[in-house]
This record gives sequence, C-alpha cells and structure tokens, in this order.
Amino acid sequence: MATMQEWLERLEREGDLKIVEEPCDVDLEIAHIAYVEVKRDPSKVLLFRRPVSRKRGIEYDIPVVMNMFSNFEVTTKFFGRHPDAIAKEIEELMHLRPPEGVVQKLALLPKLFGLKNVFPKRLRRKGLCQQIVKSASQVDLDELPILKTWPEDGGPFITMGQVYTRSLDGKMQNLGMYRLQQYGKKRLGMHWQIHKDASHFFDQYREAGRKMPVSVAIGGDPLYIWCGQAPLPYGMFELMLYGFVRNEPARLVRSITNDIWIPEDVDIVIEGEVDPEEMEIEGPFGDHTGYYTLKEPYPVMEVNAITMKENPVYQATVVGKPPLEDKYMGWGTERIFLPLLKTTAPDLIDYHMPENGVFHNLILAKMEPHYKGHAKQFMHAFWGVGQMSFVKHAVFLGAEAPPLTDYEAVTEYVLNRISPKRLLVTEGIVDALDHSSPHPLEGGKLGIDSTGPEVTEGPKEILDDGALLAAMRAIDGSVKDLKQIFTHTKNPICIVSYEKSRSVQALFDDLKALHDHLKIVVVVDAGRNDIENHYMLVWRVTNNIDAMRDLRTEPFIMVDATDKSGIDGYEREWPGDVLCDKDVLEALRHKGLIDIDDTFIERFGLL
Ligand SMILES: Cc1cc2nc3c(=O)[nH]c(=O)nc-3n(C[C@H](O)[C@H](O)[C@H](O)COP(=O)(O)O)c2cc1C
Repeated sequence: MATMQEWLERLEREGDLKIVEEPCDVDLEIAHIAYVEVKRDPSKVLLFRRPVSRKRGIEYDIPVVMNMFSNFEVTTKFFGRHPDAIAKEIEELMHLRPPEGVVQKLALLPKLFGLKNVFPKRLRRKGLCQQIVKSASQVDLDELPILKTWPEDGGPFITMGQVYTRSLDGKMQNLGMYRLQQYGKKRLGMHWQIHKDASHFFDQYREAGRKMPVSVAIGGDPLYIWCGQAPLPYGMFELMLYGFVRNEPARLVRSITNDIWIPEDVDIVIEGEVDPEEMEIEGPFGDHTGYYTLKEPYPVMEVNAITMKENPVYQATVVGKPPLEDKYMGWGTERIFLPLLKTTAPDLIDYHMPENGVFHNLILAKMEPHYKGHAKQFMHAFWGVGQMSFVKHAVFLGAEAPPLTDYEAVTEYVLNRISPKRLLVTEGIVDALDHSSPHPLEGGKLGIDSTGPEVTEGPKEILDDGALLAAMRAIDGSVKDLKQIFTHTKNPICIVSYEKSRSVQALFDDLKALHDHLKIVVVVDAGRNDIENHYMLVWRVTNNIDAMRDLRTEPFIMVDATDKSGIDGYEREWPGDVLCDKDVLEALRHKGLIDIDDTFIERFGLL
C-alpha cells in the first residue's frame, strides 16, 4: 500500500510524471492542459504545483494531480500486475473445487489465505487523513483547488471524489465515484444517479425522514478511486475489491463527525450530511459522453468538517470527448470483470468496450454460439444485469472473429455478417447521461448478431462517391457530402453529411429509390462532423441514436445519427457538445503549456 505522495515519487522516478511549476488556473486552464495531455499516447500524469484562481485572487497551498490513470502501463502499476492476471485469479477462485490429496490442498492454501485481505481493517486511532481537522465553523471549500473543467459548467466540481455512504441500518457500506458540484463554502451537490448504490441508500434515509451521513475522500492510493467506479453489485463494499487486488486489506478509520469509515491514508476528507428534504439544481456539466449533462435537481450535502493530511494532494480529472483518463480506468474494469460477466453468459469468450463508444454506448463481445438465438439470449442477459444494462448497442461476434481491439478487422467481420434479420431492437434502461432517447432513463437498444455465417448478397451496384452524391443531391439538395467505406464487404457503409431542415426519416423515404446501391446509410449533421474522422464518427453515432426511433431496416439499413429536435418529435432539450474555450487554448499554446496543432484540434473535436 502506498500513499499518493509515494506513488507520485515513484512515477517521477520512472518518468511517468510531468510537473507543472507555472501557476495554472483552476478555472479551465488545468482541465484544458490535462484534456490535451490525456489524448497523447502514452500520456503522462500531471502535477500542478501552483494552482491559482485569478478571478478570486487565490493561490492554493494544495497541488492538483490530474490524469493519474494516464496510460496502460501506469494503470498496470497501480494494479500491481496486469488486470488479466487479476481476472485469472478471480476466475480460479470461482472455480474452486474441494482439493484431492495433499498437493492440491497445499496449493489451495495461498488462495484462501489471500482472501483474508478482502475484508477492510478498522483501526481504532486517527488516520493520516486526520492530521488537520477543520470543524464546521472553519470549513471553507474555497481552500480546496476545486476545478471548473468546461466553459458552460454550472460551477466548480469535485471530479474524483470517493463518496462513502452506508445503508440506513448500517449493514452495508458503499464507495461510489460521483461528481460533486461546489455551492459556496459549505455545500456540495451529490450527483449519484438514480441507478447507483448511494442513491438507493438515500431513498432509505428519505423514507425514514432522516439525514444521511456522507464522507467524501480525495486522493490516497489511486486504486481507491478505481474501486469507486467499479460496477460491483449492490451491497458489496468496493474496498473488498481493493483488498483483493492489492493483496492487503484497506485500512480504515472512523470519520470525525459520523460513523462512516474511510481509508486512513487518503489526502482529504469532506464530512457532512445530506438532508433528504433539500434538492438543488445540479449542472450543467461537460460530461464523459462528450456532451453536457443538463441541469437537474440532486441532493445536497451540508459540510460539517474537512480533515486532511499535512501535505495533501488534490486529485481531479477532466471528462469530455474520448480518449480520456476513464479509457484506462475502464480498461482495467473491463478486464477484471470478464470472469464475473461470464457467470451470466457462460459461453462468452471476451468483450471489449471501445473508448469512443464511451462505455455504455457500445460493447463488442465474442462468444461460442451453441444454439439458435444464443447471441440474442446474451443480449437480453447483458441488458438485464447491473450496469451492463446501460449499454445501448451490443455487437456479438463468433469465436473465430479477430481480436476485439482490431477495429478494422472487427468491422469487416461484422459487415460481412450483418442483415436486418440479425438485428434485435428493443427497449430497456439507459444511462442517466443518455441524451438520445425520447424520455430520460429508458430507451432503445440495438443488438447485432454477427455470430452466424457471412451473408451472400452485397449491393447490386456500387457507384463511386461522386456519382452517388449526385444521385442523392438530385433527391435532396441538403445532402452536402458523402463517403462510402468498407466497400469491399457485403455491407458497405455510406456516411452522409446532411444539412437538416426536415426530419431524416423523410429523407430516408426518398432514399429508398437508391436501394440498388446502398446497404447501410448513416446520416450525420453537416458542419458538426468530419466524415473522414471515423474515430469521432463512432463517438457521435453511438451517442446520438436511439435504435427504436433512428434505425430503419427496409429496403436497407438506415441510421439517423443527427441531433434531434421538434422536427423529429424530440421534446427534451438536446445538449451541446463539450468544447474547449478557444482563448484559453490559445493562451496555453502561447505559454508553451500545451503543444498542439490544428490537426490535433480537429482530430479530437476540441473546438
Ligand atoms: C470519471 C467518472 C465520473 C463519474 N461520475 C459519476 C457521477 O457523477 N454520477 C454517477 O452516478 N456515476 C458516476 N460515475 C460512474 C460511477 O462511478 C460508477 O457507475 C460506479 O460503479 C457507481 O458505484 P455504485 O454502483 O456503488 O453506486 C463516474 C465514473 C467515472 C469514471
């Protein structure tokens, strides 16, 4: 077990840390620098030694660490071994059988002995994180370098808070990573979404008419925050996973003002109470979907105490368009949770959530199908279990498919097997952040079964892009451009850039005339999408579509990935893209704090 400070020393020794000595503003500057850095490969962990708020005239005593999960290697260091090795250990435990003979019995001992580390240890003393104690009258959240990460954010947010809560009866404890909006000196917005464990606990307190104690920790061993985002089932305390991965139990101390136990070596702890009667508007916030989440009421925590180490470090992250730090956190989660997912889908071989599908928008899964409908059975299983049920688009491939991270080969494989009959469109729950569905929290799901043999028929006649564009423009002059890709497969994709003045469904009606030349058409908004940039197109399309509304299959597959509004019968507010502040980017470039050119800006849709 190592503290944040010890980790930073090691990362510096091993060349993984970049220290920024220049004063950088908590208002956008730090976040923009980290946002650019995490898009490099490999990116570095960033330590901002002198955070300031120029607007409020503050020079903070506490440095800010960003991009802690900066690449695969650094993330592996935090786990202590490759996440596949951890998955293997979990798999072995799940398949334990009574040992036969002395040799097997002895071999079993270390595994069972290791399990004792799963249970956190409660220490009857103060923790390192309680060296400094600020009581209710001394609490001032402005002393922490809390970042405003995006121009249109509703204010500053704690973006890497470990939120510790417990059930009303005290029997369950939970660690979740939820963002917290700062309201003034003593109040924080608790963005635990309705599906999350802390929200379930909150419901218990509300029903009982009792205030809910909460302790929010920041920093310490980076594995704590990774555990906070891990999708463990309701009722399982995430620090048990910590003990398993670290091979050492988490060491906890009691919070000063409530009965919640927190790791003794975290950097900062914010303690308080949530009054179930009080809600406040939370957001907007530039989110990890690459869109803003809009204003919504959420519970509020009244801060009663802040405790910290003598020399704390404030850990934060910036989310937005991919790739982000959560690419590496999510990679660890994906690998480690494979054996657990296999318990619901036993013939699953592997799965992968590409970062530009922002996790809940796209999953690729490889399986060994044994009977008709097997892939569809798995789709329902995925959509019915825990946080996997947020996934909007699930693509299943057969056992002989290429590795799931070989996107070019995987796309070819799928396109050679796709047909309207092999699609499953249904409804289910969607992530609270999803903006595409007609109603919050529930929406369309698309499953693609490409476990079968290749389809036999391709398009009757492939036109070149110029001829096809002319044919489309003759139908609708608002078609601005198009590009056909994967034309060597049975189902080429035609990406159409469209200046929308009517519903794309009406355009689809007219495009049917081109059925000899088209197999899959995907329409995106002109001006907001680069049809050559496949990485960002996957991000846009999987974000923007609700399969129940935006997918048609006759006479060919048509996908409307444009932004929706009244003309599409969409009645919610469609959120804006998360974009950097141009002046801040320019100033940072000028100061030499970021080194990017216009190609980089376009590639990742920064402006
Ligand atoms: C960077 C990052 C930010 C997150 N922010 C939130 C958030 O504000 N609200 C939320 O409900 N989940 C958020 N999550 C997802 C949760 O951490 C994740 O669903 C976790 O498993 C929830 O834990 P729980 O099941 O114990 O509630 C975030 C995840 C990451 C990686």
